[in-house]
Amino acid sequence: MIAQAIVIVGATGDLAQRMLFPSLYFLEAEGLLPEDFRIVGASRADLSNEAFAGEVERSVRQRGEGYFDAAVWTRFSRRLSYCVVDADRPATFQNLAAPLKGAREVIFYLSTSPSLYAAISANLRAAEIAKPDSRVIVEKPIGRDLESCQQINDALGHTFDEKAIFRIDHYLGKETVQNLIALRFANALFEPLWNKVSIDHVQITVAETVGVEGRWSYYDDYGALRDMVQNHVLQLLCLVAMEPPASLDPDSVRNEKVKVLRSLRPIEGRDVEKKTVRGQYRAGVAEGASVPGYLDEAGGGPSDTESFVALQVNIDNWRWAGVPFYLRTGKRMPSRSSQIVIQFRDVPHSIFSGDDLIANRLIIRLQPEEEISLTLMNKTPTIEGMELRPVALNLSLTDAFRQQAPRRRIAYERLLYEAIKNNQTLFVRRDEAEAAWTFVDAIIDGWERYSVKPAGYAAGSWGPSGAFALTERNGHSWYD
Ligand code: BG6
Repeated sequence: MIAQAIVIVGATGDLAQRMLFPSLYFLEAEGLLPEDFRIVGASRADLSNEAFAGEVERSVRQRGEGYFDAAVWTRFSRRLSYCVVDADRPATFQNLAAPLKGAREVIFYLSTSPSLYAAISANLRAAEIAKPDSRVIVEKPIGRDLESCQQINDALGHTFDEKAIFRIDHYLGKETVQNLIALRFANALFEPLWNKVSIDHVQITVAETVGVEGRWSYYDDYGALRDMVQNHVLQLLCLVAMEPPASLDPDSVRNEKVKVLRSLRPIEGRDVEKKTVRGQYRAGVAEGASVPGYLDEAGGGPSDTESFVALQVNIDNWRWAGVPFYLRTGKRMPSRSSQIVIQFRDVPHSIFSGDDLIANRLIIRLQPEEEISLTLMNKTPTIEGMELRPVALNLSLTDAFRQQAPRRRIAYERLLYEAIKNNQTLFVRRDEAEAAWTFVDAIIDGWERYSVKPAGYAAGSWGPSGAFALTERNGHSWYD
């Protein structure tokens, strides 16, 4: 079941060059590519094999920084070939026949605009390049709403079985996201506390310092809710909130995730005014430099698209009844920081004088550093009285595993490796993607119906004031 070839359609594009080829190169460096594995680049550009390999080498050198190794590159480049494929010209798909000759299992990675998925998969079928045991990897966004997501899924389903469709959410390839599963299910410590009895609320933040920059035309059509919440943020929520799966096999894990998505209380009607906050950045300062506002970005113009969104979400099941989950994501925030904060409840009764006991907090940090920290109350070393202070138990994963993994992996390395091994655990199943759209569509519907427009926030700040009110209303505050 190990694949023998991968075809990257859209091979000269940004994602392929910045992420996919460097990731495949690193798999090569670690000896993780099967011996006879071929890598075929395909795109509209008319390039020779050599010119294409030159382009890939430049990208790998750039991304690989200090880790480029000439011997590894030589091995890797022997696997590479290139052919012209154009979604609008079905005959060009025959060009794939020669480089794939004799390859038993082939993965097609559609690193293109999702608007081309239907045409490409139909052409692969018609040209008999896609065989019954072929697989396909597709990137987000899978649609712009439930309906378009279903259309894409139907189109892919004409060529590929659901068991052969690998929907990527690159957050699932991040090391700490993986570690969240280990933390919850490989330690007996947390599970008994992981519920409404001990947990007061949960915060999930994915903050970026970058603006939309050159991606305005794509981004403006999507906005933060569709671009980040529908996929990455809800996936993180699922991993925090799901029930223990019976095993790590793909359907056990994905069954539990989909149950969470289906238990999300819909934010409908006027609730959008209370439970959602939209923001759009104005000019400001990011990482010490003046930056333009969203509307002044290159290619920008008048727009009501949000570059920031915060939500209060409830999960209607026994484990989480009454526990708010606050989600927020935005561009042009003060720091690049992605983290999950599990805020435990206060001690039921304090025997200490003063009222400054701070409840325990578990922080799982994905970015910029991968670390887990648990805040505990401690006594300070004073002789007199009992003075308390919160102290963090820190586990820096980068430091702990420096020997074993000196280099920080690209999330795509793991995902490509799993796809080559034909393991779908880290990929999004059709019903998950569709359940996430159902939740998101209701919010967008409410925004339209009640004219909820994004409020301005200065670039370099934590979003509009409404985001603070969202948590403060319940007596909570964001942990930055
Ligand atoms: C992508 C979004 O899926 O994720 C981008 O389209 C966003 O808008 C990116 O910048 C963030 O990924 P990461 O891995 O840099 O946190």
